[in-house]
Amino acid sequence: MESIQDSFEKSQCLVDSLLTQTLENLVAPQRLVQAMIHSTQGGGKRFRPLLVFASCKIFSINPEYAARVAVAIELLHCFSLVHDDLPAMDNSLLRRGKPSCWNQFDQATAVLTGDSLLTLSFEVLAQAATHPDSLVRLELIQRLAQASGAEGMAGGQMLDMTPCNSLEKVVKMQVMKTGELIAFCCEAGAIMANETSEKRQLLKEIGYDLGLIYQITDDLLDQEGNSQDMGKPILQDQDKITVVSILGKPKALLMLQDSKERIESNLKSLNQDTTSFLGIVDWVCNRSY
Ligand code: IPE
Ligand code: IPE
Ligand code: MG
Ligand code: MG
Ligand code: MG
Repeated sequence: MESIQDSFEKSQCLVDSLLTQTLENLVAPQRLVQAMIHSTQGGGKRFRPLLVFASCKIFSINPEYAARVAVAIELLHCFSLVHDDLPAMDNSLLRRGKPSCWNQFDQATAVLTGDSLLTLSFEVLAQAATHPDSLVRLELIQRLAQASGAEGMAGGQMLDMTPCNSLEKVVKMQVMKTGELIAFCCEAGAIMANETSEKRQLLKEIGYDLGLIYQITDDLLDQEGNSQDMGKPILQDQDKITVVSILGKPKALLMLQDSKERIESNLKSLNQDTTSFLGIVDWVCNRSY
């Protein structure tokens, strides 16, 4: 079986080359294109694309379609990071081992770069090469819009700006800001295969749990990780309320274990070959960057 490192490398290669093609074809102001390239190329784990590939593998989706959905989600994710780093939000100077977009260019360019990455993401999904069935493309667009907008990532980022002390509210915020996009990635293969709503729901549930684990490990790494390995500053969210700051590390790790067990049981219920997913789940639980 392919190692998780090999899977990551494959995902990075496929996404990088398709991203380059997509960005090179843009007829747009040079500074904006440069900032878009700066914010999407040369770094990033490409974790969300990896999930799209794993989900598409379960349902034997044409890898060319999978790669386009993978690029769309990565563009959208990069948009969220460009805006997340702005002084008005997390005020971060470093992203993926390089100056963050606003730090390298300026704030106005970073806002417009985010706008352009977000809209390009939906343009890629809408193009015929993404899937021959236009209803499937519409479904992908609708699900990604829901996962990234006010009810999803953007809403979660809003809640993240407002202090709250209850575990329930923090979990809701994290599911929205991180879990919704990850749930979209997990569901993508099932959407493209026109699968039953039961299987789609199971994959979404898996995505929410995986998103929670991903954000818990991100918050732990913010406290005790290595900035060089992660390519971003640590101690960036010290004044934020997170699952880790409310529960403390030992209980947060128990929560992580609960989510992991739920994922494994939901993967079994799918009744498909989900080997590629299990390695990813293990990696997320133990990641150091
Ligand atoms: C960072 O995401 C933001 C979170 C939701 C935790 P990643 O850790 O996937 O960032 P990149 O894409 O690898 O830079
Ligand atoms: C951001 O969470 C999640 C997004 C939706 C971008 P963080 O603010 O913790 O992400 P990092 O640590 O800056 O990557
Ligand atoms: Mg943030
Ligand atoms: Mg941040
Ligand atoms: Mg963080």
